[in-house]
Amino acid sequence: MSARIKIFDTTLRDGEQTPGVSLNIQEKLEIARQLVKLGVDVIEAGFAIASPGDFMAVKTIAENVKGASIASLSRAVEKDIDRAWEALCHAESPRIHTFIATSDIHIKYKLKMSEEQVLERAVAMVKYAKKYCGDVEFSAEDASRTRTEFLYKVLEEVIKAGATVVNIPDTVGYASPEEFGLVIKGIKENVSGIDKTDISVHCHNDLGLAVANSLAAVRNGATQVECTINGLGERAGNASMEELIMGLQTRKDYYGEMAHNIKTKQIYRTSKLVSNLTGVALPPNKAIVGANAFAHESGIHQHGVLAEKSTYEIMTPESIGLSQNRMILGKLSGRHAFEERLKEMGYNLTAEEITRAFEKFKELADKKKTVTDRDIEALAGEKVSEVDEVYKLDSFQINSGNKVIATATVSMFKNGEPVMEAATGDGPVNAAFKAVERTVGFEMELQDYSLKGVTEGTDALGEATVRVMKDNKIYVGRGVSTDVIEASVKAYINAINRVVNDHGKGAADGRETI
Ligand code: KIV
Ligand code: ZN
Repeated sequence: MSARIKIFDTTLRDGEQTPGVSLNIQEKLEIARQLVKLGVDVIEAGFAIASPGDFMAVKTIAENVKGASIASLSRAVEKDIDRAWEALCHAESPRIHTFIATSDIHIKYKLKMSEEQVLERAVAMVKYAKKYCGDVEFSAEDASRTRTEFLYKVLEEVIKAGATVVNIPDTVGYASPEEFGLVIKGIKENVSGIDKTDISVHCHNDLGLAVANSLAAVRNGATQVECTINGLGERAGNASMEELIMGLQTRKDYYGEMAHNIKTKQIYRTSKLVSNLTGVALPPNKAIVGANAFAHESGIHQHGVLAEKSTYEIMTPESIGLSQNRMILGKLSGRHAFEERLKEMGYNLTAEEITRAFEKFKELADKKKTVTDRDIEALAGEKVSEVDEVYKLDSFQINSGNKVIATATVSMFKNGEPVMEAATGDGPVNAAFKAVERTVGFEMELQDYSLKGVTEGTDALGEATVRVMKDNKIYVGRGVSTDVIEASVKAYINAINRVVNDHGKGAADGRETI
């Protein structure tokens, strides 16, 4: 039977509780907008009563972000709920999320209450929140360590009081997958009224099991999963959204057809944004979004992937919005992968030349862990730039700043004849690239752009490298200048000349020939 899983993203609340992370309102807004593009159902924008900054963040997101429900956390106390509602009231689809701990250990040492008092408070606060908002989520904090009969009782009563979602947190990451799955199954079978509500889970990663526990819960009837981008969160973090979704997607054979609203092609982009804004770098071996997640180093693996991707890839890099996998060239790489990289870089060597270059490559790879493209250029014995310069840069002019739309005018020579175009773009480099494309009459997909200093000092030469795709072929262009924009424009024109050379010089005459 197919089911629909709702994704409740708590990157901006539990994720922001990651030690050392603090996002400002603009950054939170940017992440919230990207979460909508990603397709999450609910964005927990913060804990409104926690601080004026948190309040403003929830309010700003509630007022400006459409396309997902916006939630604020609140303890099961009236003043928290009042503040949450004050922040949320203008949201397109608001949700009050109220919680109280239900485990013996929390009740005794933290709340210093009896079970009866906890039950009474939970019910009263759900009713209180309902006066403001139709959509009320109740969380039984530390549910996985809560006495089963008490958990059932609390859930049953808050559902009667109007809770639309009941959340079962594994607050301290204590549960094991099979056990947690049974908790959800037990709730489904024993709590009356449960069919009217969403069963949510919220798993922490203290034993590295947050995603496994969430998946086990889904298999046993959970209909909402709370998670964060990159698995950010308190202590060892929360269940990682990208791992959960790609797990469900890749193992449909096991989990069944679970419908969800996530546009998986937005995953990589969202992960990068969150990592950049929070300053929490991803370990290279992080599942799904780590730098090595689609990289192959072993020669045997590289050979397999080049022959048939599914030999060593259970999902495609494209499915999370990456353009392609990455072959790490090192001492374990085979000739096949080396030859492919040479082709990608624009070399067209004879079999004999490849053999010689490959021998030199193996010697170098024994000394260096990773062989870079620059090393390969040197090995191949010549710069890539052996290309007819159909287009040549003459001059350019850029107008850009933090409050103006970047505009670029680029003058070039096409086979010696002056040509010129202007364009606007997101920043000076983008505007200049667009002006160049306008002049040549075709567009290319920019896959990678990098700038690095090749000499030292403040007048250092900068080398720009662009990697573009045109008609499913990769072209790499390079440009050098003491002006970084000039280096970038030259690199782009260099790539264009490669495309034009490849398609025959007629391509230089315009869009229809390419
Ligand atoms: O981990 C937890 O129990 C929580 C609740 C407040 C939902 O974050
Ligand atoms: Zn939590």
